[in-house]
Amino acid sequence: MSLLTDLEWRYATKKMNGKKIPQEKLDYILEAARLAPSSSGLQQYKVIVISDSALLERIRLVAYDQSQITDCSHLLVFAAWDGYTDERISNVFNYIMDERGLPHETMDGYKQVILDLYERSGQEWQAHHAAKQSYISFAMAIAAAAEQKVDATPIEGFLSEKLDELLNLKGSGYKSTVILPLGYRESEQDWLVNMKKVRTPKSMFITEMTMADASTDVDLPAPMNLDSFVQK
Ligand SMILES: Cc1cc2nc3c(=O)[nH]c(=O)nc-3n(C[C@H](O)[C@H](O)[C@H](O)COP(=O)(O)O)c2cc1C
Repeated sequence: MSLLTDLEWRYATKKMNGKKIPQEKLDYILEAARLAPSSSGLQQYKVIVISDSALLERIRLVAYDQSQITDCSHLLVFAAWDGYTDERISNVFNYIMDERGLPHETMDGYKQVILDLYERSGQEWQAHHAAKQSYISFAMAIAAAAEQKVDATPIEGFLSEKLDELLNLKGSGYKSTVILPLGYRESEQDWLVNMKKVRTPKSMFITEMTMADASTDVDLPAPMNLDSFVQK
């Protein structure tokens, strides 16, 4: 089986059958999510795992009554930082330097460059930037689930403010971004299961470009290498 075969097999499951997925498959999917790359390696998001049926019932109410929420085995809630602060970034960088046996100062110059950029961009941009990173982890989880023959429905259709209240995220520095029920399809009751998978034709999706197609009329900044701010 190849990754492409697994991605063909998967679909946004509309009806799940309530069966539990084995712990090792859940662990595998979560590990794929944890191994995702993120901007500056900050992992500015986390995953909350929910299988408590009473809580899932409540979440379904803030997710447009989507049945996968209560018929899944486990619900993954991706939650990202609501903004960047010196303290948050320092904590991550210090942890990475400790793990690598390097002095904390190694990343000081780099940290200042990204903090200046983030501060200039404002809190809304920061939350959005962190949320984007969580989607990379989310995509890894979707691919890993497909590889494990576990069904998953990517879900953005929920009231994030309400979910944050339900999960006591308010004031935690995290906001929910996207959710992923994991489980098994109930094929007989799922209108989507046998539908053709449709994607934009390759000819429209992929564009190859050369200098001949690009603009030469751009005022380019002086070269700046972010790596030069890391003490080596
Ligand atoms: C970020 C995101 C949010 C989505 N939100 C929902 C949702 O709330 N409910 C749902 O049933 N499907 C949702 N989908 C599933 C898409 O509709 C589906 O992935 C798309 O139509 C492609 O079909 P496929 O995943 O079955 O190949 C979402 C997908 C993504 C990537």
